[in-house]
Amino acid sequence: MDLILKIWRQKNKEAKGELKTYEVKGVSPDSSFLEMLDVLNDDLVNKGDEPVAFDHDCREGICGMCSLYINGEAHGPDRAITTCQLHMRKFKDGDTIYIEPWRAAAFPVVKDLVVDRSAFDRIMAAGGFVSVNTSGNTQDANALPIPKDDADKAFDAATCIGCGACVASCKNASAMLFVSAKVSQLALLPQGRVEAERRAIHMVEQMDHEGFGNCTNTGACEVECPKGISLENIARLNREYLSAAIKAE
Ligand code: SF4
Ligand code: FES
Repeated sequence: MDLILKIWRQKNKEAKGELKTYEVKGVSPDSSFLEMLDVLNDDLVNKGDEPVAFDHDCREGICGMCSLYINGEAHGPDRAITTCQLHMRKFKDGDTIYIEPWRAAAFPVVKDLVVDRSAFDRIMAAGGFVSVNTSGNTQDANALPIPKDDADKAFDAATCIGCGACVASCKNASAMLFVSAKVSQLALLPQGRVEAERRAIHMVEQMDHEGFGNCTNTGACEVECPKGISLENIARLNREYLSAAIKAE
């Protein structure tokens, strides 16, 4: 396949970026999107040009690093997959493909297609954990029976990989789907109830402090989420936050 790529190039956070046009030739339809970018970067390096900076790590849909906005969609045209799992057979020979970084004030561009998502780390540090008794008298996990439905819902919420596609696809750049998944995975389990109230309040406060917008129930986040995190989690976060805020008064 021969393709025209329009790629966002930006030297650093302060610099003004722009879309630049590149041609790649002879791309295999069976290669992944990131392998196609590897081919482009090999060409650029061979010509003595600066390669395109983009984030990636596992390349198997686990780490959440590969944050690309492709033809106006977070993680590209396929559903329920990350950019690293997207294959070139989803495109046609001769296509023009637009490739941009996540766009959100809370995710500043570091270089080209790489954004700084450390705001998510700070939200997690504000409350996305459970404190565990390490005295040696720790309760056996099997002594805490958990209804199957709760365990399944907690597990589904825990599949969030922190990629940020929900923020990038939201017109408000809201991080509610991410935060709600991280609150839900703990709030649904007895181990997570101990700190549940503090957690909901602190994580939402940090989310607001980082500059993410609020949720206005558009639902774009759920559509673009590669892990199928449900809007139900946002409803749960709202309940958790409201009941914690009332008790705190
Ligand atoms: S909720 Fe989905 S889109 Fe948002 S960070 Fe988690 S996995 Fe990515
Ligand atoms: S590179 Fe890890 S999810 Fe894509």
